[in-house]
Amino acid sequence: MNAMNDEYDHMQKRKKKNKYNDHSWILGEPNIGEGCWIGAFTLIDGSGGLKIGKECDISSGVHIYTHSSAKRCVLGKRFNPDGSINSNGVEKAPVEIGDHTFIGANATILMGTKIGSHSIIGAGAVVTKDVPDFSCAAGAPAKIVGKVVIKNNTVSVEYFNKKQSKKK
Ligand SMILES: CC(C)(COP(=O)(O)OP(=O)(O)OC[C@H]1O[C@@H](n2cnc3c(N)ncnc32)[C@H](O)[C@@H]1OP(=O)(O)O)[C@@H](O)C(=O)NCCC(=O)NCCS
Repeated sequence: MNAMNDEYDHMQKRKKKNKYNDHSWILGEPNIGEGCWIGAFTLIDGSGGLKIGKECDISSGVHIYTHSSAKRCVLGKRFNPDGSINSNGVEKAPVEIGDHTFIGANATILMGTKIGSHSIIGAGAVVTKDVPDFSCAAGAPAKIVGKVVIKNNTVSVEYFNKKQSKKK
């Protein structure tokens, strides 16, 4: 069997059934709080340590990574001489997400980042740095573009750049 098949088998063995979504790929043992919703085509990587608080929505297509094989790849050390996978050079760093945080469709959360509670991550964002509580972050790389305001059971986003407030 060649090395690519070997890697595919290895990935399949790590893909366990999960209680959230048949089409979510959950790796390792992430700590996921009560009441979280996880959409299809998500990749939730607990291999480097992942904690998601309670009642978060992780929209479809979101990827959360707690590892990176970028350095291993450029070093050319992907496979051992026997064709097995070489984990040397794979970096790991934990990700933490607070409570009641919404992660928009297709957002990517990179290793080592911390996202607070009651925050909104826009669709397609790439989170490379920490996002505090009650923040709205969007874009690639994600920037904090506004403040989430919860008052009298309603929610609004106060954008720092006035142009960004929709007239509703
Ligand atoms: C981030 C978000 C919540 C903001 O919603 P909103 O307050 O109604 O935002 P608006 O549409 O008024 O947009 C405000 C500004 O942010 C920009 N913006 C909105 N969403 C953005 C995104 N995902 N990435 C980058 N910029 C975004 C808009 O272009 C606008 O900028 P401008 O004023 O310079 O033109 C929303 O746009 C979003 O991404 N929601 C995720 C939806 C989703 O993933 N759904 C799937 C399952 S529920």
